[in-house]
Amino acid sequence: MRIDVVTIFPGYLAPLREALLGRAIGSGLLDVAVHDLRDWTHDVHQAVDDSPYGGGPGMVMRPQVWGDALDAVLAADERPARLVVPTPAGRPFTQADAHAYAAEERLVFACGRYEGIDQRVVDHYADALPVDEISIGDYVLVGGEVAVLVVVEAVARLLPGVLGNPRSAAEDSFSDGLLEGPSYTRPEVWRDRPVPDVLRSGNHGAIARWRRDRALERTVARRPDLLAALPPDALDKKDRAL
Ligand code: ADE
Repeated sequence: MRIDVVTIFPGYLAPLREALLGRAIGSGLLDVAVHDLRDWTHDVHQAVDDSPYGGGPGMVMRPQVWGDALDAVLAADERPARLVVPTPAGRPFTQADAHAYAAEERLVFACGRYEGIDQRVVDHYADALPVDEISIGDYVLVGGEVAVLVVVEAVARLLPGVLGNPRSAAEDSFSDGLLEGPSYTRPEVWRDRPVPDVLRSGNHGAIARWRRDRALERTVARRPDLLAALPPDALDKKDRAL
């Protein structure tokens, strides 16, 4: 998969080269290029923003410089691309989106700062390719860079060969619509707290049922919205009894 990121702070994306993602890049599963938006400015001040039409606080990123940058970045590779624009005004990015993005050949991220990018940029590219304005949560960051790190990590770990054990991704929170329950490792007792007996019983059926019950309990307590969104046949009789 090819990933391009356009930003005024290329250094912000350095963590993409670390740990799991760094290894995915090193092994050729992922090809990442970070571009400095200011390379496409034409004035001595390298201005990327201007005051908003209609007034109000903050600045808006100029369409010309974004247009020149995205034209050049998109043209540099033949693979069909999806353009992703992180913004607190976007629709929520979910695990389902992570799976859909992991099936793309190419993702191009446009990081806005200030009050965002002139809306005509998104409208223009949406005529030619799929464009998503996505939010990573109901809070406001200073810019899209951290959101790109979040999205790229969520996507890259789903690419075949990136995770050591593919079951890790298959058994994630959200893979069955529920939050994952608690996990334990050695020692058997830590600060007077024992590991639940069932997990040491060797009874795989009982362990699976226990894990399912804890996942249900946690989802009811922390994310009732997820439970309400499950399809009717997602819960079995024993689930409903809980
Ligand atoms: N940019 C600023 N805040 C953001 C958010 N919550 N999600 C995505 N991009 C953002």
